Amino acid sequence: MSTATRANPYIEVEGFKVPSSFSPSSKLVFTLNRTRYQLSPARGDDIDLTLLEFVRSKGFTGTKLGCGEGGCGACTVVVGKHDNRPSSSSSSSNKAPYRYKSVNACLLPLIAVHGCHVLTVEGIGSSEDPHPIQERIGKLFGSQCGFCTPGIVMSLYATVRNGYGHLTEEEIEHSLDGCLCRCTGYRPILDAAKTFATVKSSTSSDASSTDSSSQSELQTPSDEGQDPLIDLATRISCPKGADCCQVKGTSDGKAGCASSSTNAAAPHSTGVDLSTLKAYEPGTEIIFPPYLSKPSYDKQDLIFVEEKPEVGEDLEAEEVEGGNVATGGTGREPAARQVWIRPGSLETLVECMKLYNGAGAKIRSGNTETGIEVKFKHMRYNVSIFVSDHLEELAFYRSTPEGITIGANLALTDVATNLKKDSNKDEYPVQVRKAILENLGYFASNQIRNVATLAGNIATASPISDLNPVWVALGAELYFIDPSSDSRQEQSVNMRNFFLGYRKTALPQGAILTRLFVPTVQEPAEKERSFVQAFKQAKRKDDDIAIVNGCLRMTVAADGVITDAHLAYGGMGPTTMQSKQTEAFLVGQRLSDPGTLNMALELLSTSDFPLSFGVPGGMPVFRKSLALGFLARFWGRITKQLSLEFSSETVPSLEELAEAHLERGVTKGSQDFEDVAVKQPSGSSVPHLSAMKQVTGEAIYIDDMPPVADELYGALVQSTRAHAKLIKVDPSEALKMEGVVDYISAKDIPEGGSNIWCPPAMDDVFFAEGEVHTVGQVIGVIVAENKRLAQAAARAVKIEYEDLPHILSIDEAIEAQSFFKARPVIHHGVSPDHGWDEYEHVLEGETRMGGQEHFYLETNACLIVPGKEDNEIEVFSSTQNPSETQVFCASILGIPNNRVITRVKRLGGGFGGKESRTISLAAPMTLAAYKLKRPVRCMLDRDEDMLLSGQRHPFQSRWKIAFSSSGKLLRLDAKVYNNGGWSQDLSQAVLERAMFHIDNCYNIPDLRVAGFICKTNTMSNTAFRGFGGPQGMFICEDFMVKVADKLGMQVETLREMNMYKEGEETHFNQKLIDWNVPTLWQQIKTSAEYEKRRAEVDAFNASHRWKKRGLSMIPTKFGISFTAIFLNQASALIHVYHHDGSVLFSHGGTEMGQGLHTKMAQLVATELNIPLGMVHLMETSTLTAANTSPTAASASSDLNGMALKHACDQLNQRLAPFRKEGGKEAWAKAVHDAYFNRVSLSAVGHYKTPDIGYSWETGRGDPFFYFTQGTAVSEVEVDTLTGDHRIVRADIHMDIGRSINPSIDVGQIEGAFTQGYGLTTMEETLFLNNGQLATRGPGNYKIPAFLDTPEDMRISFLKGPERKMEGLRTIQTSKGVGEPPLFLGSSVFFALRDAIKSARRQNRLEEEEVFVLDSPATAERIRTACEDPIVRLASKGTERKPGEKGFFVSIF
Ligand SMILES: Cc1cc2nc3c(=O)[nH]c(=O)nc-3n(C[C@H](O)[C@H](O)[C@H](O)COP(=O)(O)OP(=O)(O)OC[C@H]3O[C@@H](n4cnc5c(N)ncnc54)[C@H](O)[C@@H]3O)c2cc1C
Ligand code: FES
Ligand code: FES
Repeated sequence: MSTATRANPYIEVEGFKVPSSFSPSSKLVFTLNRTRYQLSPARGDDIDLTLLEFVRSKGFTGTKLGCGEGGCGACTVVVGKHDNRPSSSSSSSNKAPYRYKSVNACLLPLIAVHGCHVLTVEGIGSSEDPHPIQERIGKLFGSQCGFCTPGIVMSLYATVRNGYGHLTEEEIEHSLDGCLCRCTGYRPILDAAKTFATVKSSTSSDASSTDSSSQSELQTPSDEGQDPLIDLATRISCPKGADCCQVKGTSDGKAGCASSSTNAAAPHSTGVDLSTLKAYEPGTEIIFPPYLSKPSYDKQDLIFVEEKPEVGEDLEAEEVEGGNVATGGTGREPAARQVWIRPGSLETLVECMKLYNGAGAKIRSGNTETGIEVKFKHMRYNVSIFVSDHLEELAFYRSTPEGITIGANLALTDVATNLKKDSNKDEYPVQVRKAILENLGYFASNQIRNVATLAGNIATASPISDLNPVWVALGAELYFIDPSSDSRQEQSVNMRNFFLGYRKTALPQGAILTRLFVPTVQEPAEKERSFVQAFKQAKRKDDDIAIVNGCLRMTVAADGVITDAHLAYGGMGPTTMQSKQTEAFLVGQRLSDPGTLNMALELLSTSDFPLSFGVPGGMPVFRKSLALGFLARFWGRITKQLSLEFSSETVPSLEELAEAHLERGVTKGSQDFEDVAVKQPSGSSVPHLSAMKQVTGEAIYIDDMPPVADELYGALVQSTRAHAKLIKVDPSEALKMEGVVDYISAKDIPEGGSNIWCPPAMDDVFFAEGEVHTVGQVIGVIVAENKRLAQAAARAVKIEYEDLPHILSIDEAIEAQSFFKARPVIHHGVSPDHGWDEYEHVLEGETRMGGQEHFYLETNACLIVPGKEDNEIEVFSSTQNPSETQVFCASILGIPNNRVITRVKRLGGGFGGKESRTISLAAPMTLAAYKLKRPVRCMLDRDEDMLLSGQRHPFQSRWKIAFSSSGKLLRLDAKVYNNGGWSQDLSQAVLERAMFHIDNCYNIPDLRVAGFICKTNTMSNTAFRGFGGPQGMFICEDFMVKVADKLGMQVETLREMNMYKEGEETHFNQKLIDWNVPTLWQQIKTSAEYEKRRAEVDAFNASHRWKKRGLSMIPTKFGISFTAIFLNQASALIHVYHHDGSVLFSHGGTEMGQGLHTKMAQLVATELNIPLGMVHLMETSTLTAANTSPTAASASSDLNGMALKHACDQLNQRLAPFRKEGGKEAWAKAVHDAYFNRVSLSAVGHYKTPDIGYSWETGRGDPFFYFTQGTAVSEVEVDTLTGDHRIVRADIHMDIGRSINPSIDVGQIEGAFTQGYGLTTMEETLFLNNGQLATRGPGNYKIPAFLDTPEDMRISFLKGPERKMEGLRTIQTSKGVGEPPLFLGSSVFFALRDAIKSARRQNRLEEEEVFVLDSPATAERIRTACEDPIVRLASKGTERKPGEKGFFVSIF
């Protein structure tokens, strides 16, 4: 370290020169929950961490890693900062000079928290003393698997802490936009969250642009507002609001709400005594640490130099399509030491950039872009210069009559806050601000906007940036300082001249953006008026990157002539694009002349954006339709504002078009909890037993387990090729890296061990040998001291491939006849050669349904702990299948099964994705641990997981159906194909279930269905909730709508007319007993007011051109039982401890959020007649329950419940002589007495499902023990110009027998419905032509988010005397509920189809009888299916040329 002198104003810190204002012993100071930290590399502290890595390393494992890319919110923490500057969100009415904001800890660099108070979920409460947010989410059923829960709690915490007393329901709903939950379907979380709203909701359109910035208009913690307990009680579900009997009580003193027995609109009873929940008292919040309450932290110049170089990264990594990086670089060079510099002023920033510009210094601000580059593109920045809104000179907002000036590094939340507060009310400035806010409103999430900056967005120059088109259209002036220039004066460039090409700008290398000036002065010419509007369309509303966005600006003279036009678009080319040719044409044209608009659209389509069929980014017709549609909508708005008459053939009803965007209201709904409940002495709607641990971060998942002594980390080396010979695999460079311990491959499998696995076909391998068959296939494992190092070393393994031809889609497989061996057939009632020409109508068609990524929030994880003796090994795995894990972890080593124990505490979601594929991670890690005799841990990153774990099978069917003119279905012949991927896994069973469900609920007397499993080079597809059932039923409902189209009848009439009746036989010859579907159908028809709403929807559609509504009512029956008969068994173990009578039980099922353990605990307590608190389950383990079936097929409560009952029966029998009454004391005494009489207090139970077993040879025998049945009615509204939709209302009516826990079952129904909705609407798996999976994380693959929930969702159960259940022989006559409701989510798909049909009719396509809509009905498919003149115009030039391939490949 050198000293600064007058001559030399610099010092040197660990070899790095910096201005003398920097402290050579810089310390990073912050408080984490209640602990103060002062970190410095000199003391061995690592600063080059994300905040997530740091908090987890300190044991705060409540904060989870779900994606690492800012897309799921599982890592959300809250960061408090002293700040009373006028530009910040806290300033307006905040009484305290600090503010708390939610951030994604997975992206935030640790350096960003200097001077801050960081709060994790553990910091605000515990299960003993929860924060009211934690308590309400936990007790009101807002947590199932719990992996998303801490992030949601903290996201809500920031909102409530900043705004309590002033929050509306809309604000609360929108504040959760950065979080995903895969289990709950969001409704219970929203209900719990909205209890913190004290201001009446409005459903204004402004709601959509609400973000945390709106909190600036709110006050910080205060006790203003209503009594929170009154809020709470009146806001939970009950349609009666303040008159709810939960609040008021009933006049006759009866239970009121709870005893109501109406169906769809039944009031709630959550089983929770609301008055026992804590009130929110802002004054009790953890305080902002006083020592951090000074602005001086911002002004400190800090430098942190890495103690020693860490990992040699692969600087030669080659970026491949799809954004992933292929291995093959050197990885040899030890990296230079890394340094983080945090200047405290603009002056020192400029100085540092000058010093390190040549060394490739990188400014890192919100790190939402650079963080992704480091994590996923493996970029390495040796000199990172942290710049954020701590620099006052770069974080301000100024409004003058000439325009708005925004500091470059003002966080986007604060940009929005200031825009909203701006008092300039002139028309044009208001329009300008609205345009910016329009695109800011849907920009990423709260967590991202809270840190992301304007400069970061501009400098990234992304072609789909949401803001850059706005700056270009508005002609904003960008100011910057070039540190290498002598003057260091600000220079500027107009945004219209800024973008030069793909991620290329006019900015000099190393330039520092300082501010952006947005002019708001009207054109000088008299009576000219300027108009501006911004647009964005994405796959999903919440937190999504745009498909196309734009900002359009035009000036119109008093005579209606256009005098200026700037049409800027994102998503239409390699950079933000200006429509130069259209703009040039428009100037001088008359606005009201229809020819002007027609020509402008034509030019946009053919000259400015002539996208070809194979254009990078795909979707040419959709993207062009959006670009054209935005212009049309803008035109409509201007002509309306100028009161001009306008009519156009190409764009009819322009005025309506201008206003036709969708407005979403606040969600509401009802859940029917009580009347179906089994009366458990232990309580019926008991909250999930782990709920309070989950909401407080105390619940432990695999990667939360504290490190085991000597632990190593294993990282997978995965194939980057779809199909290739492995010429050479060379780990030598990786092995040279310090801290890398070994490379493990098939060669390490000991004698007697096997590389082959995956029943029933046993055609998979743990490690590729000689050939790889899919991208992502495991080739080897690098084992190293830590995760970062292991992953870097895995990338350094050199692999040489020789590519072989690959097959991706079902079509390609059929053409190549690439099938696996199994070819099941079900043949019912017709001879194969029976003629088809005898029928009145025969329709042939195809149905295609895409796959689905499980997207459990916890990725696959395991920890393998080898024992010291006898080859014993403990396998902690996030698996649904402990026994199979045990079998194959033993078989890879060639050791007996009795040496391996699988242990599973809980899973962060499974949905079938962890039924078999977890083993492909656990077994290789077991081999590594065995060889190295050290524990090995691995939790896959999201992208690795999506490659490795397979998905729901894409399906295709080619069918032929005969029917009468009246609509009677007569005969079906269907070939059903699923895409199995490269190995069979469970594809055959999935296919068979699809074939069993192809009748859905309809009697088709002659039915032949043949199945084929396509062998392709995609990942091996696997189980997913519904297991082929939804695909089979979807095929059915698809031909049903097409038959109805053909006959010109309502499909609901067709469904009703062909519905099975009690006692009829299915096509697999199973007699339908307890057939409740017709009753459910009639009941929901009444309760959902189907007929009335049908008429309303038709009337709506007749009076709207650009908005259409659709309505659909569908039934479902889902067969319960594993189709592999041997799996229909379970065992359980119960120990009763004589000393206190407490009961420990165990069974074979795993807890993955579905509440299985809670139900089983209720059951044991009920059977033994003791309080629930006396029973406990520690974990699922092969030690306590052997030979278990996977937790799957919706049968786990049935099977394990019966096994437990068997054990309880034995205990009750043995204890009977000692126990004369129920209750705790009598039990304890009986147990004590029995023990001293030497009676065994342990019991093993076993159960097998009776009377099932289907023979594929004879077609006889029942495959299913019973059917869970249901119906749903969904109504949607579609913006036909963009393909956007909202679910207006969804009613779900289910027969689930008698429920063990109705609240948990409601959660299963809502969650399954939402997954089914995602499956059939927005979840689209896409590949690139080279076989890479393009959709690998939440950025590209969209699951439903908070704002996708139905606005009105009503769940009800079949009950009362009409419910048939005489034949039901299940535990407490309950029914499996996990999978059956999933298919009902497709009611949204069919409602969308109904809306599209109406649009097509209006677009004169009515002569076409049948139209095709593949699943999922994405915005793209919806928009293009409407086929209006804009779509037709946009289609021009996008025709496929011979040999041309689309950019993306759908593999259905
Ligand atoms: C989950 C997620 C969702 C997103 N959604 C959207 C979206 O909806 N719309 C959208 O447009 N973008 C989106 N983005 C992209 C990104 O968030 C934005 O581009 C953001 O504005 C970047 O700001 P930042 O401060 O985080 O930049 P950083 O990542 O810190 O930096 C980005 C670039 O800007 C440079 N930079 C930063 N400040 C300066 C400065 N003062 N002078 C010179 N260069 C500077 C950096 O050197 C770097 O090259 C999303 C990103 C994520 C992770
Ligand atoms: S883990 Fe950070 S957002 Fe997903
Ligand atoms: S509870 Fe939300 S992901 Fe499981």
